Amino acid sequence: MFYNFSLAKILNFILVISFIKFKILLINKHIYHIIYYIYNKDGDFLSKISIIGAGSIGSTTAFALLQKGIAREIVINDINQEKALGEVLDLMHGSSLCPPCNVTLGSVDDTKDSDIIIITAGSPQKPGETRLDLVDKNYKIFQNFIPKLASLSPNSILLVVSNPVDILSYMTYKLSGFPKERVIGSGTVLDTARLRSLLSKYFRIDGRNVEGFVLGEHGDSEFVTWSSLRVGSIPVKSFSEQNSISWDKETENVIAEDVKNCAYEVIKRKGATAFAVAVALVRIVEAILRDEKTILTLSTLLNDYLGVSNTYLSVPTIVGRNGIEKVLDIQLSTEEQEKFISSANLMKQYITRIDSH
Ligand SMILES: NC(=O)c1ccc[n+]([C@@H]2O[C@H](COP(=O)([O-])OP(=O)(O)OC[C@H]3O[C@@H](n4cnc5c(N)ncnc54)[C@H](O)[C@@H]3O)[C@@H](O)[C@H]2O)c1
Repeated sequence: MFYNFSLAKILNFILVISFIKFKILLINKHIYHIIYYIYNKDGDFLSKISIIGAGSIGSTTAFALLQKGIAREIVINDINQEKALGEVLDLMHGSSLCPPCNVTLGSVDDTKDSDIIIITAGSPQKPGETRLDLVDKNYKIFQNFIPKLASLSPNSILLVVSNPVDILSYMTYKLSGFPKERVIGSGTVLDTARLRSLLSKYFRIDGRNVEGFVLGEHGDSEFVTWSSLRVGSIPVKSFSEQNSISWDKETENVIAEDVKNCAYEVIKRKGATAFAVAVALVRIVEAILRDEKTILTLSTLLNDYLGVSNTYLSVPTIVGRNGIEKVLDIQLSTEEQEKFISSANLMKQYITRIDSH
């Protein structure tokens, strides 16, 4: 009898413990879901990203962001509503195969409370049109949406992609009233990626081992930091000697020209660049949302950088959740310094034009 009673008690005890354990598991599951709602599985903040302009760059970037699963919501805005709706539907149809993300077509109002706004809209340069004409035209376009975007998402980071990106970043900075840290131009992140890819082909080495930058203007006056370029921490000259690969000034010039002109090779064949730009933009967005403190060559407002102030140009920057958290000095040769200054001089007349509006 005593034995039976004890057995019943033990069984009861096991049942109670199992029930409590089950409850704890359930609670844990709920907590897990709540945590998952706030963070995604990689521990990133789930964020709202708006993309202004659903052309080649905007739509490919949305596609790349969707696959990465770093956004809870992507709002796509374009004056060409039909085109944008087509892109949104196409993305939405595949979204159940990607990490959860709500992709929607939106007005400027729908961008409210965005964490990052990627600006890929703008007027392209037409034949016979000067860059200054383009500045005036884009000023009118940007005037229409930048102040509104900024007031709807006062804590957001504005990532400018439209060309001429350094000039339009300065324009966005002026029109938004945001601190400079939160108005970023995609700058030469793409050009630096192109440099690393080309060197990776040349040396038959993983491009992530190439430590070197493209700086200055995202455009014709950009330059490669050859004087400090390293492959796996080894100066490029020494790396090429060790691997019996030829390397001289002429090779540097050819590769630098290739970096500058390779976009034209793509545009000539398929009409627009898209994939490389999109992955570069996802890299920037990721660095911001994950608070990575990554070094990227973004276009930022300079303050006495090699004597250059009040100009957006690309330099190495530390990027995190607050945008550009630090601008880094880099040792440049005299020739590279001169190139940087001439990039800055080129910007001056556009800056004056924007300031006069
Ligand atoms: N920074 C870089 O590294 C880099 C690289 C490649 C291209 N770009 C630039 O990115 C921009 C976009 O390139 P793309 O190939 O996607 O061009 P695109 O012509 O395919 O797309 C631009 C889109 O913007 C839309 N648009 C125009 N005005 C608008 C407005 N007021 N509001 C909302 N949408 C508007 C257009 O309808 C169009 O769909 C261009 O300026 C291009 O030069 C920059």
